[in-house]
Amino acid sequence: MKTLKEGGPPVVMICANKRPEGAPKPSCGHHGAEDLRGWLKDQLKAEGLWGKKVRVLTVSCLDVCPSAGVVCSLDGGKTLELVDAETERDELLGRCRALAGG
Ligand code: FES
Repeated sequence: MKTLKEGGPPVVMICANKRPEGAPKPSCGHHGAEDLRGWLKDQLKAEGLWGKKVRVLTVSCLDVCPSAGVVCSLDGGKTLELVDAETERDELLGRCRALAGG
């Protein structure tokens, strides 16, 4: 194994897992995960924070699978947060700004 880069920006993870309709477990991807990530990217880009200051990535299931909302982590998966993609997106943006030092 070879290290390609060290000391990168903080990474925010957003679960965008999308199980087929009718699956026994719910999926964050059916509750606005992709739109939330896209909106965050647009906001952070407009503020010059995207990329070198903070990155927001979609990931597969983080294994808590709520029946509503989107699971996110701002600390590499140590803590999982449940976010309503519409009503709590501003709060998540504020947390991303803080991570970016903005
Ligand atoms: S589908 Fe998002 S945590 Fe499992």
